[in-house]
Amino acid sequence: MKMWSGRFRRPLDPAFEKWQRSFDFDCRLLECELEASAAHARALRQAGVLSAEELESVLHGLEQIGEHAADSAEFIDDSEAEDVHHFVEKQLVALIGDAGFKLHSGRSRNEQIAADLRLYVRAGCDEISEAISNCISVFLDRAEQAGQAPMPAYTHMQRAEPVLVAHWLLAYIEMFFRDRDRLADCRRRGNLCPLGSAAVAGSTLPLNRELMAGELGFDSQTANSIDATSDRDFVLEFVNALSLLALHLSRWAEEMLLFSSQEYSFLQLPEAYSTGSSAMPQKMNGDLLELTRAKAGRVIGDATALMITTKGLPLAYNKDLQETQEPLFHATETAVLLLPLVTGWMSAVEFNFERMQKAAATGHMNAFAAATYLTRKGVPFRIAHEQVGKAVRLAFDNQCELQDLALEQLRDIDNHFNQDFYDFVKLENVLAIHDVSGGTAPVQVREALSTARKKLGSVQEESHAHA
Ligand code: ARG
Repeated sequence: MKMWSGRFRRPLDPAFEKWQRSFDFDCRLLECELEASAAHARALRQAGVLSAEELESVLHGLEQIGEHAADSAEFIDDSEAEDVHHFVEKQLVALIGDAGFKLHSGRSRNEQIAADLRLYVRAGCDEISEAISNCISVFLDRAEQAGQAPMPAYTHMQRAEPVLVAHWLLAYIEMFFRDRDRLADCRRRGNLCPLGSAAVAGSTLPLNRELMAGELGFDSQTANSIDATSDRDFVLEFVNALSLLALHLSRWAEEMLLFSSQEYSFLQLPEAYSTGSSAMPQKMNGDLLELTRAKAGRVIGDATALMITTKGLPLAYNKDLQETQEPLFHATETAVLLLPLVTGWMSAVEFNFERMQKAAATGHMNAFAAATYLTRKGVPFRIAHEQVGKAVRLAFDNQCELQDLALEQLRDIDNHFNQDFYDFVKLENVLAIHDVSGGTAPVQVREALSTARKKLGSVQEESHAHA
């Protein structure tokens, strides 16, 4: 039996009937639906609509539905159910009889789907936050293991200045902390209970909204029934946060691919996360990285689809909103599967510190430090820049590094150059003089690592408080 068949004289066109259903995908919301229905049932009891026995039997029925679904995939293979709400009602009536029909008193699927989606997004925030934490933890391990190993940092994809490998990895850790923070923010704003909003104007039964919100772990209740049944901001915010996460992962993947090519050879692709070529026997390809790079496109597509689907939609509920589910599920499932793989890849990759060190020591990357040397001797920076530029040109002509030029050659350019120049532009010193917070000097990086560790500990504690 449909949930709305009374006013219809004719059956639906079978193709249309099948096409408008959502159970194929909203079956993912079954757990949320059962939880929210139990809260509604308790409120119905308080409002005097269900007797104590009826409440018992409804709660027991809902529990059984959850158990059957967990036990067998066939149970939810239901070709009649229109959506998850219809499915639960149908199964409940099959289990407990007509009392099951009472559950829909004073509510509407419009508030139910809003509640289910809020629970789903909240669970997604928690699960993905935890997966990001695990990822940060492995990035931190790798950064700590890198010790004082240096590598080139690039701007415009040209060698710019040497940095510590740990400093480079910490850059990704910062992005992931922001991703986590965005999810926490999204969780906080979205954690409100729409139950009691009914179809659009609010329930016609005196339901205790506070009770329902409390039972479902919401911080409070939504304030307006029209907004509550038509709002999907929390879905959009969540998927937008996921698209930024996916974007960060795609930048990471691209750098790893680049650095794994023979031209760089800064790292060795882990075999467990790579594939071969059916044609070229020598090949090993970084498929995990390439797929990660591509997934970002699809998740950004999900966020875009959500924006465009809801744009210009009049209040309140419209069936268009059903189309917001699949992008949400796709983006969530992508992130949930992707993060542990990235984490696994990161713990397995081997860095070629020797190659990175060699690259860090060449390519005139100490030129900025050389200009600083002159600045410290009192030469105005613009002049110092010009003079070092000339020295670099000379080094280019001689196919050598700045420190290979003789002191007389340097003094011909500027007489502030002295013997101490040679120590000043050594790699260790170049690294050490970037001694500001957030800079790559080893003392600063050590500090940054310990700050990141502590921060990870405290955000993990916070999320355990939610669990
Ligand atoms: N399956 C619907 C959705 O996902 C549930 C709400 C249906 N409400 C309605 N009035 N037809 O949006």
